[in-house]
Amino acid sequence: MPENKAGTNDIFEAMHTCRAMRRLKPDPVPDELIAKILKAGQAAASGGNTQRWKFLVLKDPAKKKAVQTYYKKLFDEVVGPRYASSAPPPGSDPAKFKRQHSAVQYLTDHYHEAPVWIVACLEGENPNRTAGSSIYPAVQNMLLAARALGLGSTLTTRHTGYDKECDAAMGIPAGYKSYAILPIGYPMGNFGPLGRGPLSDVAYLDNWGTPFPAA
Ligand SMILES: Cc1cc2nc3c(=O)[nH]c(=O)nc-3n(C[C@H](O)[C@H](O)[C@H](O)COP(=O)(O)O)c2cc1C
Repeated sequence: MPENKAGTNDIFEAMHTCRAMRRLKPDPVPDELIAKILKAGQAAASGGNTQRWKFLVLKDPAKKKAVQTYYKKLFDEVVGPRYASSAPPPGSDPAKFKRQHSAVQYLTDHYHEAPVWIVACLEGENPNRTAGSSIYPAVQNMLLAARALGLGSTLTTRHTGYDKECDAAMGIPAGYKSYAILPIGYPMGNFGPLGRGPLSDVAYLDNWGTPFPAA
């Protein structure tokens, strides 16, 4: 098992270096670390404290491969062409955006090879913004917990483009839906600073458009 030199207990360091880690080693991840990540997810807020979530830990190669087939299909049909015709986002540039695209392509091809997936599911038939707001706090907690433990992951939702097929392949019963898949493994690369635009472009004080005066 690879030695973990990348963990951190500093929450701000974790948040500011919690990159989408798309290149993962196939080495196994101990269940005790996965349990820590799951407990971090379960610690999150949910509307009315309803906790209507289930976290499916998937290691089964056949189930992961079945979902990867749809994940790749959606890359070929939608995501790849969109990347090819999009401008770099704030805090990025053409070279960085090209590297992001190639990492997205890599994860697409190797999605099922991540040793562990956590599939975040929620009870209810109607995935919408209100429902999502009761599962994505848990998802973010789990991403940060993985980062703290030196494990790489990425929030992925692309499979929802074929949600019925993918949920059936993963054995998710009627009455529940998957909202995110977190492929988890030891990262091949390093954690590091994120590319984001200036805070003044997105944080306002009192009047829309008046930048919050952050140092
Ligand atoms: C709602 C949502 C869905 C996402 N789905 C995918 C996905 O299916 N595949 C993927 O590779 N990344 C996915 N991402 C990751 C984003 O592409 C990533 O957060 C963004 O590129 C910023 O990366 P960075 O934090 O490394 O700068 C998703 C992120 C969010 C918030």
